[in-house]
Amino acid sequence: MKAIEIENLSKSFDGRWVLRNVSFSVDAGEVFGYLGPNGAGKTTTMRVLLGLLRPTSGTALVKGADLHANDEVRHSVGVLMENDGLYDRLSAWQNLDYYGRLYGVKDREERTAELLETFGLSARRGDKVYTFSKGMRRKLGIARSIIHDPEILFLDEPTSGLDPEAQRMVRGSITDLSRREGMTVMLSSHNLDEVEKICTRVAVIKNGEIRAYDTVENLREGRGGHTLAVTLSKEADATAAIEVLRSSSSIIAVRQDGPRLTIAHGEESSSAILASIFRAGIGIEEASKTSRSLEDVYIDLVKEQEVVG
Ligand SMILES: Nc1ncnc2c1ncn2[C@@H]1O[C@H](COP(=O)(O)OP(=O)(O)O)[C@@H](O)[C@H]1O
Ligand SMILES: [Mg+2]
Repeated sequence: MKAIEIENLSKSFDGRWVLRNVSFSVDAGEVFGYLGPNGAGKTTTMRVLLGLLRPTSGTALVKGADLHANDEVRHSVGVLMENDGLYDRLSAWQNLDYYGRLYGVKDREERTAELLETFGLSARRGDKVYTFSKGMRRKLGIARSIIHDPEILFLDEPTSGLDPEAQRMVRGSITDLSRREGMTVMLSSHNLDEVEKICTRVAVIKNGEIRAYDTVENLREGRGGHTLAVTLSKEADATAAIEVLRSSSSIIAVRQDGPRLTIAHGEESSSAILASIFRAGIGIEEASKTSRSLEDVYIDLVKEQEVVG
């Protein structure tokens, strides 16, 4: 059974579509990245998965269950959203103790001590949370989210707002949780670098639609990782060429700069793409294949979707 399975999930708020036919799944034990710019729909997807929002259509299941109606499975899930749920005026220890009590954690004291140790917060256990740096607070937030030893952990932008050193520490904690505890982690991020460092697979979302869903390697090198740079001949109609490209499902994005088209494409070969332009009677002066960094792919996916999309 998949740890997370989303199928044709759509969500609208007051008639405005925020998620459109989103489908992807996460295997048990995976660190899965949910990547996309602000406003793409990442938090909304997570809220639906957690049973906090109802889908308009489609399904979002965790361990095969709808969390809205399944307390048992909900108990096997840990969550750290933007609001970290920590109490400023309680100490680190008191916060964890409080959540341990809430979740009915056995050996609460031991577990609290262990988590404070794991996250390097033992020395500050008695200090109130408002005295913590952002990085310490985020680590305590993660500790809080796993106090009941969940199987699946949801982290919404776990490193946002942290300085690079704190980001590195938080990323290290996430990798450890996955390696040592075999925890399944789904994390959202608008930071490609981050996802590339710790995730095995990613889904890229923009404007509520999944733009890519693959392993990090494949995104970088394989499907969706190809670029074709085409310079059209002088008399050629670039708009017509873009029209032709629009009809191919393997085209991810097209950037136009005068007669020059940069085409990010998937599994279809570049010669097939060139042939389709030729067949439409559009002249090509020059064409070349390039390989791109994952960052280029991401920028194409999320920022250059306006021409074809
Ligand atoms: N409760 C809500 N009511 C209306 N619109 C919402 C609500 N929650 C989110 N949205 C809208 O849905 C879109 C996606 O938001 P969100 O899922 O928070 O994006 P992300 O987490 O990727 O930044 C945004 O345009 C946001 O304004
Ligand atoms: Mg968000």
